[in-house]
Amino acid sequence: MGSNDPRATASGGVPSNEATPRVRYALIARLAPGAVSAPGAVSDEGCEPIHGYRIYWKSVGAPGPRGTVVVLHGGPGATHDYLQPFSDLAAVGYRVIYYDQLGCGRSELARSEVEYSVDRDVEDLEALRTSLGLGTVHLIGSSYGGMLAIAYTLAHPEGVRTLVSASGLADVPLTRREMQGLKRQLPADVQAVMARHEALGEYQHPEYLRAVLVFYRNFLCRMDPWPAEVSYSLDHISLPKYGHMNGPNEFTITGTIREYDATPRLPEIRAPTLVTVGRYDEVTPVVAESIHRGISGSEMVVFEHSAHLAFWEERERYFRVLGDFLRRRG
Ligand code: ALA
Repeated sequence: MGSNDPRATASGGVPSNEATPRVRYALIARLAPGAVSAPGAVSDEGCEPIHGYRIYWKSVGAPGPRGTVVVLHGGPGATHDYLQPFSDLAAVGYRVIYYDQLGCGRSELARSEVEYSVDRDVEDLEALRTSLGLGTVHLIGSSYGGMLAIAYTLAHPEGVRTLVSASGLADVPLTRREMQGLKRQLPADVQAVMARHEALGEYQHPEYLRAVLVFYRNFLCRMDPWPAEVSYSLDHISLPKYGHMNGPNEFTITGTIREYDATPRLPEIRAPTLVTVGRYDEVTPVVAESIHRGISGSEMVVFEHSAHLAFWEERERYFRVLGDFLRRRG
């Protein structure tokens, strides 16, 4: 299915009257403390010194017998704010830990871009888990966070009780090919605008950004309007990290992760694993399937009405599925 699914046909031309695209690549705003407060009571928060930088974390819910969930954001370079729905797990007995990865959100920027890497994010997570005394955790990663969760599980299997790839990826070249297929489903005028600006390297051109937004409205999040937390995390994406590791936008992965492929090592993973994906996901069901096939005993669920953020787009069903998985396999 995935990019060949006829129901995935994109709609809408370039929205030329739209004043300012929500995705402002020129903006590297740093979050002023308290500027956005996610609903769901924060029980604790702080900044942990990790490998020479302050890493911001927060905790929702109390530690209990069901254990601790750590949720990893994507980008690479987004912030934790868009993951707010995972606080729903606190209501059913889990402690939920969020943090902003190095260079992101309320955490410090690295002094040099070469410090931004998957390996570094893995070791930062290990140091944070140890420093906060979290024990063995349920590890949930969204998008790049899913890639990070897989890399972490391969490096530190002892830290992982269950693994959830929420629209995650293991094979970036496959993901790039799939995203190019999605682009070809966009209306011809949108594709023409993209091609014209891409040929000139004009990734910040307002007309190009409006075309990018058409892709995002089809394959990133189908809600209208987008939840404030989603817009927030995109508006505050860390350009140094996103530009270095990912590229100018979601479907142009030209950064350091472009050839990353953990697929050959997936069979090493023993943790109970759930793979979730949206039918219209920019990280397509074909990519999810490649993870599911690689991890023996893993479960995969496709959310039929979702793009990349099923935990928002089909929130109720998502947390029913996730809660059931965690109870059965945790
Ligand atoms: N850029 C994708 C993400 O959101 C992979 O992490």
